[in-house]
Amino acid sequence: MRAEVRSTSLALAAFVAACAPAERDRGVSPDAPLAARMKVADARMGRAVFRQCAACHTIDAGTGDRDGPNLHGVTRAQVGHNSARFGYTAALQSVGGTWSCARLDRWLTNPATFAPGTSMRFPGLHNGLDRADVIAYLYAGGGDKPDCR
Ligand code: HEC
Repeated sequence: MRAEVRSTSLALAAFVAACAPAERDRGVSPDAPLAARMKVADARMGRAVFRQCAACHTIDAGTGDRDGPNLHGVTRAQVGHNSARFGYTAALQSVGGTWSCARLDRWLTNPATFAPGTSMRFPGLHNGLDRADVIAYLYAGGGDKPDCR
């Protein structure tokens, strides 16, 4: 009887473990190069990933800053300049240039490595598919398609 219960719960655990990755199995590894990940990136899944960002960021046009700047159209912005009213660190503003898929991928892997001294207190998204999805969502939120050349 006990063994039966145990094997049922083992089977259940195996079922749950098999289901979670299957749902996001898009034939591309989270460690694949960015271009391959962006080909299967899904802005709707990125919207769910963005819940981790939403405590600090809004993305809709005309919405305000929170602990972090509003991100509407950030994919076209100069690094550290998307919101005119936000008090950015010199660490981020001195990076220079505009955001791109590749830069967002590096930033979101580990903000403190991309811009040492940044005030974005976020450990980073360690799953490369989560990063690709949220990048697709950042582009979609600004009305753009990702241009990841
Ligand atoms: C705990 C708060 C916090 C969280 C969570 C957070 N951020 Fe940030 N973010 C910030 C702050 C603060 C800055 C400004 C950093 C600076 O000036 O150094 C920033 C800056 C940014 C920028 C650059 C904006 C610009 O104008 O160049 C992007 C892009 C960004 N965050 C994306 C994200 C995404 C995507 C997530 C979730 C995966 C996220 N952030 C999670 C606080 C946060």
